[in-house]
Amino acid sequence: MYAQLVETGAQRVRGTDELEGQERVFQERIDAGVKIEPKDWMPEGYRKTLVRQISQHAHSEIVGQLPEGNWITRAPTLKRKAILLAKVQDEAGHGLYLYSAAETLGVSRDALIAQLHAGKAKYSSIFNYPTLTWADIGAIGWLVDGSAIINQIPLCRCSYGPYARAMVRVCKEESFHQRQGYDLLLALCNGTPEQKAMAQDALNRWWWPALMMFGPSDADSVNSAQSTQWGIKLFSNDALRQKMVDQTVPQAEYLGLTIPDPDLKWNEERGHYDFGAIDWDEFFNVIKGNGPCNRERLATRVQAYEDGEWFREGLNAHADKQAARGAAAA
Ligand code: ACO
Repeated sequence: MYAQLVETGAQRVRGTDELEGQERVFQERIDAGVKIEPKDWMPEGYRKTLVRQISQHAHSEIVGQLPEGNWITRAPTLKRKAILLAKVQDEAGHGLYLYSAAETLGVSRDALIAQLHAGKAKYSSIFNYPTLTWADIGAIGWLVDGSAIINQIPLCRCSYGPYARAMVRVCKEESFHQRQGYDLLLALCNGTPEQKAMAQDALNRWWWPALMMFGPSDADSVNSAQSTQWGIKLFSNDALRQKMVDQTVPQAEYLGLTIPDPDLKWNEERGHYDFGAIDWDEFFNVIKGNGPCNRERLATRVQAYEDGEWFREGLNAHADKQAARGAAAA
């Protein structure tokens, strides 16, 4: 059973009782926990919201390969290189499942990729930060994939069947990603003082951007109310962010690292950690395209796509030939 009427500072939506006709029947199905499938009737807004979110998610997986791919040739051991290669390949796979889920809503992967390459589509803010040292690879696994899991486990129960099912496998793989990042940092923290300092520096730079991954505060989240009513969002941006902080602080303590937040403090009454103010100006600046690596990331993606043109042409020519042979034989 999903929430029926939700209101945030940014949006108010109509409750089931206020809806009529097909829209009401649709909402009643969602309220009853029935999954929506591609051929079912759905409001145009529901379809658009899913295409928006799933495609942003797919783009994030694809662009998310770049900061880590940057370190494959420089991984310090064969074992770490093999792990990183597997992880980066997994991210490509996640992108493909997600583009496929979006295609069930009547939009083509080519159209979505064209939007990304034209700079018209969003992808996660986190991938616009640079990976300066090897410890950043650990911090991405621990904090970025850790946050991704917290955000994505509820999506396995979201109302749209193809998205929910794609998320099951994605979350299993994300768990391995989170684990390998933590293991990498554990090795650095048990190493030389210089290695431990490198791990601390990575935490200092990735902590706040990782908290921003969950999106604007609930009061400023323009899509949350409607997405919650439609069972796309099961927990609010702030609730998931709080979960990430509560879960990560003890993990940092185990590593012997300090979270770079002087206001971080256990609040006995709330049963949660209080934490400092997020720099939302930085967040909105990054999602507008002005983060440290936005232009570089987009240019690399476009270049990779153009470099792959000959290969796509070859595949298409082969597919056409096979189809022609099949038609001739029939
Ligand atoms: N980076 C970039 N844009 C963001 C981010 C972020 N971290 N957080 C929010 N936004 C954008 C939203 O896309 C929205 O923009 P739009 O309306 O132009 O599309 C705007 O900021 C306002 O935010 P919300 O109203 O809160 O948007 P929404 O309800 O979509 O919630 C959230 C944002 C939580 C990220 C949601 O889209 C989601 O759960 N997405 C699926 C998970 C995902 O995409 N993860 C990607 C990173 S994980 C990984 O790849 C390893």
